[in-house]
Amino acid sequence: PTIHYICPDGTRRDVEAAAGLSVMEAAVKQGVPGLIAECGGAAACATCHVYVDEKFAAAVGEADDIEAEMLDDAMAERRPTSRLACQIEIGDALDGMEIEIAAVQ
Ligand code: FES
Repeated sequence: PTIHYICPDGTRRDVEAAAGLSVMEAAVKQGVPGLIAECGGAAACATCHVYVDEKFAAAVGEADDIEAEMLDDAMAERRPTSRLACQIEIGDALDGMEIEIAAVQ
């Protein structure tokens, strides 16, 4: 599936990502700037805060309670589309999704 990342500097990066990776892992692997992902994907740092494409909100699903708490503490504004990128698993249903990386992590 292809994921379109919108970086904090406004540039766009299209990544052909393997299914099964998280949205965070696919970005880090390809050197997409903007995600720090300090905890390595454990939903414990909120430095992989992204805004999900509204069109894909249903496919992505909602944050669980632990993730929601982390998002409350995120540095950037929390929006209804806020998610932790490490908690979103890439699959065919997400092909073509835009992911905006929060400006501060
Ligand atoms: Fe730490 Fe996602 S990488 S919460």
